[in-house]
Amino acid sequence: MKSAANAFSAQREYPFSPGDFRRVRELIAKLAGIALAEHKENMVYNRLARRLRSTGIGNFGEYLDLVEQPDGVERGQFVNALTTNLTSFFREGHHFEMLATYAAARRRSAPGGGRLRVWSSACSTGEEPYSAAIALREVECPAEIIATDIDTEVLSRARRGSYALEAVDNMNPERLRRFFLKGVGPNEGRIMVRPELQAMVRFSPCNLQGNDWPSGERFDVIFCRNVMIYFSKESQRQVLDRFIDVLRPGGLLFVGHSESYATGHAALRNCGKTSYERRAVDSPRAP
Ligand SMILES: C[S@@+](CC[C@H](N)C(=O)[O-])C[C@H]1O[C@@H](n2cnc3c(N)ncnc32)[C@H](O)[C@@H]1O
Repeated sequence: MKSAANAFSAQREYPFSPGDFRRVRELIAKLAGIALAEHKENMVYNRLARRLRSTGIGNFGEYLDLVEQPDGVERGQFVNALTTNLTSFFREGHHFEMLATYAAARRRSAPGGGRLRVWSSACSTGEEPYSAAIALREVECPAEIIATDIDTEVLSRARRGSYALEAVDNMNPERLRRFFLKGVGPNEGRIMVRPELQAMVRFSPCNLQGNDWPSGERFDVIFCRNVMIYFSKESQRQVLDRFIDVLRPGGLLFVGHSESYATGHAALRNCGKTSYERRAVDSPRAP
């Protein structure tokens, strides 16, 4: 009797050997820090088979040679194909409530102070940074929101700010009226983020494992949610140390619902569900 794996490979359009899968895992770990689990083999095949079809390449060996070319465009497409981009407006809503409270307190203690600097560091299609923009508008806090992701395809969608109507199914009507417009022309039947909200968010590509992090002053708030879960423990630790360097003392770090990588770090104080405050004094690092 055939095993399930053999049954899959028998139906496959392109041969995909254990060696090909190993190569994919090594490449995506090197390029994005993503540690792909063994059981993702079928998902990986399906996503990359689409790339073989659109490039017209007939086998995985040749395709992966192309991805390995240092400056080739296919490298980005390979990463885009393997990322998981699930997100939604006001996902894990307690973070946006905490953001609003923090911003309002900052405004009270430093009226006329500068803009709040927020980083949505794995922003996917933009729902996270736009939710932050809404929360900050509601408390009249001037803000600059930097929204980054490794996946260039989701960033283009985020910049457009156009969403299917279902994306705002659970949004309260007051927010809908104030911050969204009905799409027209090519966006007919969709919902658009209002231009004044779009103007608060600056999207750009950034690999959390790379050297293209946003420059400038330290951030008041960093969202790093539901991305570190795909990284190895070692990468999580390295990225977290770098976040701490770019977070202002007293600033906030929000992590995803099932992530615990920030718990117990000497420079952070747990200040709510999956929320951490950067301690005021730099703590010595473990060697
Ligand atoms: C599941 S989504 C999370 C979106 C949003 N933060 C949320 O919680 O709703 C994960 C995002 O992380 C991005 N990502 C994966 N590896 C990355 C890396 N090395 N650097 C930056 N972003 C990465 C993916 O492209 C994807 O858009």
